[in-house]
Amino acid sequence: MKAIHMPKYIVKGGKKLHGSIQISGSKNAALPILCATLLAKKPVTLKNIPNIADIHAMISILRTIGADIEYRDKTITVDTKNVKNQYISNEGKHCMRASILLLGPLMARFKKAKMAFPGGCILGKRPVDTHLYALEALGAEVIDAKQDIEMKTDGLRGDDVVMSELSVTATENAIMAAVTARGKTIIRLAAAEPHVQDLCHFLNSIGADITGIGTHTLVINGVNSLQGGEYAITGDYLEAGTFIIAAVLTNGDVTVQGIDPHHLDSFWQKLSEVGASYELKDNAAHIKPHGTLKAVGQLRTAVHPSFPTDLQAPFAVLLTQAQGDSKIFETLFDGRLNYLAELEKMGAKFEMLNPHQAIISGKTKLKGVPISSWDIRAGAAMVLAALVAKGETEISNIGFIDRGYDNLEAKLQKLGAEIERV
Ligand code: EPU
Repeated sequence: MKAIHMPKYIVKGGKKLHGSIQISGSKNAALPILCATLLAKKPVTLKNIPNIADIHAMISILRTIGADIEYRDKTITVDTKNVKNQYISNEGKHCMRASILLLGPLMARFKKAKMAFPGGCILGKRPVDTHLYALEALGAEVIDAKQDIEMKTDGLRGDDVVMSELSVTATENAIMAAVTARGKTIIRLAAAEPHVQDLCHFLNSIGADITGIGTHTLVINGVNSLQGGEYAITGDYLEAGTFIIAAVLTNGDVTVQGIDPHHLDSFWQKLSEVGASYELKDNAAHIKPHGTLKAVGQLRTAVHPSFPTDLQAPFAVLLTQAQGDSKIFETLFDGRLNYLAELEKMGAKFEMLNPHQAIISGKTKLKGVPISSWDIRAGAAMVLAALVAKGETEISNIGFIDRGYDNLEAKLQKLGAEIERV
């Protein structure tokens, strides 16, 4: 029988991180922007593309339906003129939640689309109702939403759309459907995350007319067509947040470069509360050694500009090293506190109040034991815990981490961490 080799990380804790690293382009911006190239009449060149599994999966889907893609270093050139409207499967390497982002652009371009329900990581039940609702409001009709997702339209038209919830990717689908729809669209209760903003800036750079970017109300005047062009993806504030926490955890001295620090405003507030020391620059942040870390009253995740759910698990690791009791309230996802069971194996102390709330009691000494990743961000949290654990930590299931972090171990090694992939 053929052996299956699942990579793992082996981390030896206790090293202070120091030095400087360049943050990669944002995963959650690059994914919708790649899908939006379906709307462009001419080739699009995208710079600062992160080298991560989710991007490779999206490229593979686009190639399968006929896109001509050149990918060198961090730059991609996509020409979608030969794309055919085909069924999008979610099998094998195409299994990703973000494939739903093809729905809006396919509907705009072909007036119909059919795809399997998207796969992805284990974050509780994540329906697509908000996506369908937004496209229906723009003149599309659902043919099937049980077996597959299938929609058609006589032609999308602008309208005043109140989103049924503040959803990131559903907002992105609505935007991509609206930019070439007939007339004016207003999207209310739009998500405003930095990656949603980046998608809008990209679309405007190739000829779209979107205003209200960064707010919860977007106004889009439909244009006949979008051209080609060149665009650099914004820095990944979630990757940056992870490295910033690594620096604080190890009481290190680290500069993260290539980000807009304002993407992390609520994160900095919590970092101050916990007692970290840092200096913000135009496109960088310098994390400095600090005194005793203290608990935070409550770490409550919510939509942007509140504290990002994607940094909740990483921040929780920091709270295990802070004096006192900190409450975590994860408001977005079911199942996004599951990683606490892994941290407990390492010696962390917490009390589960309900599936969305827990109290972490610190400071606890963490010890290296075999643990596993639960999703992209929980996986990163395990690496963070391992950086301060006594002894050696073995982290399995790191395929999750590879979906969202561009060469995590090489960047950590550069900062002095002892981490290797085996
Ligand atoms: N939700 C609420 N209340 C809200 C808004 C959302 O309960 O006010 C629920 C939704 O029902 C859903 C969940 O919260 O179950 C997340 O909602 P959303 O639709 O915004 O998530 P998404 O668009 O599927 C994107 C990111 C995720 C990130 C979430 C939340 C991409 C490709 N994915 O997912 O990223 O966690 O927004 O910010 O952009 C990651 O990068 O690790 C990741 C999972």
